[in-house]
Amino acid sequence: MTWHLGELPDQTGRTILVTGTSTGGLGHHTALELARRGARVVLAGRSDAKLAETESAIRADLGRADLGRLLVDLADLSSVRRAGDQLAEEQLHVLVNNAGVMATPYRRTGDGLELHLATNHFGPFLLTGLLLSRLVASGDGRVVTVSSQAHRTARRAPLGDPFVQEGRYHRWQVYGQSKLANLLFTFELQRRLDAAGLPVRAMAAHPGFAGTHLVVNGQLGRSTGPLASIMDAAVRVVSQSAADGALPTLMAATADLPGGTYCGPSRMGQWRGAPTVVDCAPLARDRAAQSRLWELSEETVGLSYP
Ligand SMILES: NC(=O)c1ccc[n+]([C@@H]2O[C@H](COP(=O)([O-])OP(=O)(O)OC[C@H]3O[C@@H](n4cnc5c(N)ncnc54)[C@H](OP(=O)(O)O)[C@@H]3O)[C@@H](O)[C@H]2O)c1
Repeated sequence: MTWHLGELPDQTGRTILVTGTSTGGLGHHTALELARRGARVVLAGRSDAKLAETESAIRADLGRADLGRLLVDLADLSSVRRAGDQLAEEQLHVLVNNAGVMATPYRRTGDGLELHLATNHFGPFLLTGLLLSRLVASGDGRVVTVSSQAHRTARRAPLGDPFVQEGRYHRWQVYGQSKLANLLFTFELQRRLDAAGLPVRAMAAHPGFAGTHLVVNGQLGRSTGPLASIMDAAVRVVSQSAADGALPTLMAATADLPGGTYCGPSRMGQWRGAPTVVDCAPLARDRAAQSRLWELSEETVGLSYP
């Protein structure tokens, strides 16, 4: 059974934080549709100028929208802690961990972490932990984490010392591992929420292949300029639209589904099409890996939860 945008219920009274909302990406389209249905949407990203640009684009589309902004660099744990502090008293129903990087050159963050794992996993792990009390207080919270078909390319979970590069750096392999981590995280989070009896659902989604700036951001380190425009256009020819790519996330954020559900496109081996509940690689269901990654993440970011 597939889901469509017409099923997105009225979101009035709900506050939803979406990370990685730069214009034209999945986060932008996710935020747009949630705001269209009346949610208060907090746009979260590392550039105030980009947040302002998305805010203007959404207002231009909708006329009126209830929008907030949160500056957060997910690749910087102290920035994530500051963001958590800022929202400590705020209402929050849904956290959408959407921001991510793909296939970047080798880089260690200021915290000493590899860039993919820092941005795509450890930053979101910390942000989720810091905001969990807000989600619990809502009485009906959700965490939606955006993974990828690339999780299937990971040969093993990223369970080594995150501060040490073991062997040669393979950018696609590390991206795949970070997206596998998104699923390991989601399933372990759901198990821990259930054990603690907390009213929050951990969901995951993936967009198939969608025409965003992800490729140019990873390959060029920026999304503007003539080369970026040519590459963006080439990606759009072979992918579904960013708006369609956001649908699995919107389904996971709002449909009446049990915690631990993974949503993705229904056609062409999950690469495109209307969203539905999808399966994942067996490695993502490895309970020992889920549990070990959780412990490693707690040690790395210095926060234990739930
Ligand atoms: N597009 C696809 O086909 C596809 C397929 C599978 C999975 N995904 C996943 O979908 C998610 C969204 O990607 P997208 O396709 O929409 O790509 P995108 O257009 O490049 O958007 C990525 C967003 O993440 C933000 N971001 C990157 N590093 C950040 C950091 N350190 N702190 C805060 N924000 C940061 C970017 O902000 P800046 O603009 O400041 O860089 C941007 O807003 C990612 O998790 C990606 O892995 C996408």
